[in-house]
Amino acid sequence: MPPTVFILDFGAQYSQLIARRTRELGVYCEIVPHDTPWSVLSARQPAALILSGGPESAMVDGAPDMDEEIAESGVPILGICYGMQLLARKIGAGMVKLDHAEYGPATLIVSNRDTPFFDGVPNESRIWMSHGDSVVSLPDGYAALASTPRCHVAAMGNERKKIYATQFHPEVVHTEAGRAILANFLHEIAGLGDDWKMESFVDTSIEDIRRKVGGDKVICALSGGVDSAVAATLVSRAIGEQLTCIFVDHGLLRKGEAEQVLGAFREVLHLNVIAVDARKKFLKKLRGVDDPEKKRVIIGHQFIRTFEDEAAKIPGVKYLVQGTLYPDVIESKTPDSKAGHKIKSHHNVGGLPKKMKFKLVEPLRSLFKDEVREVGRVLGLPDAIVQRQPFPGPGLAVRIIGDITEDRLEIVRNADAIVREEIDRAPLSPHPWQYFAVLTPVKSVGVMGDGRTYANLVAVRAITSEDGMTADWARLPHELMERISSRIVNEVQGVNRVAYDITTKPPATVEWE
Ligand code: XMP
Repeated sequence: MPPTVFILDFGAQYSQLIARRTRELGVYCEIVPHDTPWSVLSARQPAALILSGGPESAMVDGAPDMDEEIAESGVPILGICYGMQLLARKIGAGMVKLDHAEYGPATLIVSNRDTPFFDGVPNESRIWMSHGDSVVSLPDGYAALASTPRCHVAAMGNERKKIYATQFHPEVVHTEAGRAILANFLHEIAGLGDDWKMESFVDTSIEDIRRKVGGDKVICALSGGVDSAVAATLVSRAIGEQLTCIFVDHGLLRKGEAEQVLGAFREVLHLNVIAVDARKKFLKKLRGVDDPEKKRVIIGHQFIRTFEDEAAKIPGVKYLVQGTLYPDVIESKTPDSKAGHKIKSHHNVGGLPKKMKFKLVEPLRSLFKDEVREVGRVLGLPDAIVQRQPFPGPGLAVRIIGDITEDRLEIVRNADAIVREEIDRAPLSPHPWQYFAVLTPVKSVGVMGDGRTYANLVAVRAITSEDGMTADWARLPHELMERISSRIVNEVQGVNRVAYDITTKPPATVEWE
């Protein structure tokens, strides 16, 4: 393994961002639960530790804690926000609860340049704050390094122990010098190089897969998305003929998708693929179900059953490959993020039945979407696959609000095809990250020709994003929106109204369910 930084997750929304930024600086890192014992961490020889922010106050009893030995371990530590307050409590610093919490932008004033922590950071710069408690005094050995007009100790450090902390968030883009500060901590203070690259990830994971799987047979759940394609290709590079891919057509795919995907897998990637037509089975299970979580769980279960049935036909299969990504792992609140709050059961993780016949191989489990694309490029996958927009495992089921029927699938499929066709051929910069149609349960009155209609409302969603964790709605040109809207109402039977979703994530999510 490359030198690894561990991020202790205290439940911050930003833990993943810390991980992204660290990797962007060429340092490999993993997020672990905040209460991971030092014995477990030390066995992996951490190169440095970062303590994340978190929603709680470090000043209350029962606040999320970490193993006592960590602060004394001698490993370089960076505490961020909650992480700083926890360190402050442990070293006996003076803390107060602010009358008014400080959220949003503030001006950082660097007051101490005895250490490399603020090298290259201007005397004054914009930062991003989000805290209700504040450190006011420090014990011997620790120095205040910066302040803001409202926060006396906005950063602190102990040069000898290599323990540093910031009250603000260096990982968010709104903190102007955030990248420089993280780079100073990782490269100058912890002495880490910047040479972790996707090529190294590919080599290491091919070795890991070989070691884990040995001579056993493996099946792979191909969904059509970039994640499972990259996962399958990676596994196939590792173990070749031992891998059989299974492509389940659950009937919730986009227009023409099943044919395109199968063609690409067989002819371009030369994977060994069995296609299963499970459309009827899935629809039957989903009949009458309108609760989003139930849909996700049913689809997750049904997926695995279908694989199990298919795999039973291949003797000796022990492993199942899935294209699970880091955001799936974290948002489903697996033990990787104990203090976080559950948002959705992503079908790759949350929907798995408790008793499974297969052991899982999830080679992308620690990667973000853009990193998966990069791995795809390193593996030589064609652009048509690498650039494919993300598509959720539960497919169109989470884009039909309410009951799923053949008719409603047909409507959303046709509307979606128009959205994709129009946006794909528009010269947009930046090109939206994801764009699709949602069929709402709303019907409204319209007029077509001389007649009254009472038909469905389709919503169009187009977002810009880096990784799906946060998103902004795309400012599409009005002429493009007009073409999309007019084509949908004219070409898709059963739709007489189109709305555009202008919500960011948060507070909304990308998918409607
Ligand atoms: P949300 O809706 O959670 O979506 O804001 C974030 C990104 O994840 C995709 N998504 C999924 N991907 N299985 C997946 O593989 C799922 O169950 C799932 N649900 C959402 C979504 O399309 C967006 O890109």
